[in-house]
Amino acid sequence: MIYSPTLLGMGAYVPEAVVTNFDLSKRVDTSDEWIVSRTGIKQRHYLAPGETTSDMCLHAAQRALAQAGLASSDLTHLLVATCTPDSYCPSTACTLSAKLGCHGVFALDINAVCSGFVYGVSLVRDILGGNQTAKILLVGADGLSTRLNWEDRGTCVLFGDGAGAAVFSVETAAKLAPGNAVVRDVRIHSDGSLGRLLHIDGGGTSAPYALGDTVGPEYFVRMEGREVFKHAVRNMTAICRETLEANGLAVADVDLFIPHQANLRIIEAVGEKLGVDSSRVFVNVDTHGNTSAASIPIAMTEALEKGRIRPGMRVLVSTFGGGLSWGAALLDF
Ligand code: UT7
Repeated sequence: MIYSPTLLGMGAYVPEAVVTNFDLSKRVDTSDEWIVSRTGIKQRHYLAPGETTSDMCLHAAQRALAQAGLASSDLTHLLVATCTPDSYCPSTACTLSAKLGCHGVFALDINAVCSGFVYGVSLVRDILGGNQTAKILLVGADGLSTRLNWEDRGTCVLFGDGAGAAVFSVETAAKLAPGNAVVRDVRIHSDGSLGRLLHIDGGGTSAPYALGDTVGPEYFVRMEGREVFKHAVRNMTAICRETLEANGLAVADVDLFIPHQANLRIIEAVGEKLGVDSSRVFVNVDTHGNTSAASIPIAMTEALEKGRIRPGMRVLVSTFGGGLSWGAALLDF
């Protein structure tokens, strides 16, 4: 029998509140024209007051489980990729396990910022390699609207909130059900020496604080946008090439390319460098903004729902984020 990690179902959730560029222009010195021309973003969704990352995870998880035809009690592992957890402690994965009612599962948060979901797919593959009876829920979720500095117009317009979930197991059936996919490969890289290009320090041991301290800019997203842009294009292009080459494939063998949804100009630049026709590139950054770890699983779920991914198709996803961290995965549907 050939061991193969299989995607059994996906689901996504974005909060109800839609925030348009026009809404932002009432809060900071910006315009719809600037945001659309520099990023392609038209709107994004923000958490409601009192709504948490684990709440978003719960909605996405329930949808993914329904697609997979599984109950939460079937799960053995629960992984949440996030850089905006509900709290420092307990983990958001533990909080989610209580909300899902799957007591006793292996529950773990992972933080690879925007790359968290694809890092999670790599972990899923490794877990399934050692335990072929595991049933794993992986959620990528972020609520970066809670970490925006409204005095920094270069970052506060970019992010939105959301969650995307996927269920994985090892399947031995000869034929995949519609919506199912074999994870053919997943590749991961990082460069910690460039971590200061995109960071949030406040609350960590590098930025100690005491009771009564005021919250300063260190508590919010800080980014060297132009530098991050260059590294995103370079590294996403390189890891896509590496992944295709390692699998003996060419760009022409990919039916749909799903890049991290941070900026339309980054997506277009990577597409051009790879030589992928824009009709084979999935884009939803216009409606969601950059949802960080949720970006890839939300895009995959929407691509499935819109029929952009159909049985028999090969999908290449590619991610990039703080760390710096990046990765790519090849899935055969
Ligand atoms: O998930 C991965 C993490 N993030 C990313 O992938 C983001 C990567 N970076 C980017 O997407 C782009 O660098 C940004 C969209 C953040 C910025 O675009 P840019 O073309 O690099 O603009 P810039 O930062 O060089 O700023 C150009 C001008 C500046 O004005 P001056 O100095 O030329 O007069 C900024 O002050 O645009 C100004 N600006 C704005 N104007 C209106 C910056 N932000 C805004 C804004 N509205 N929101």
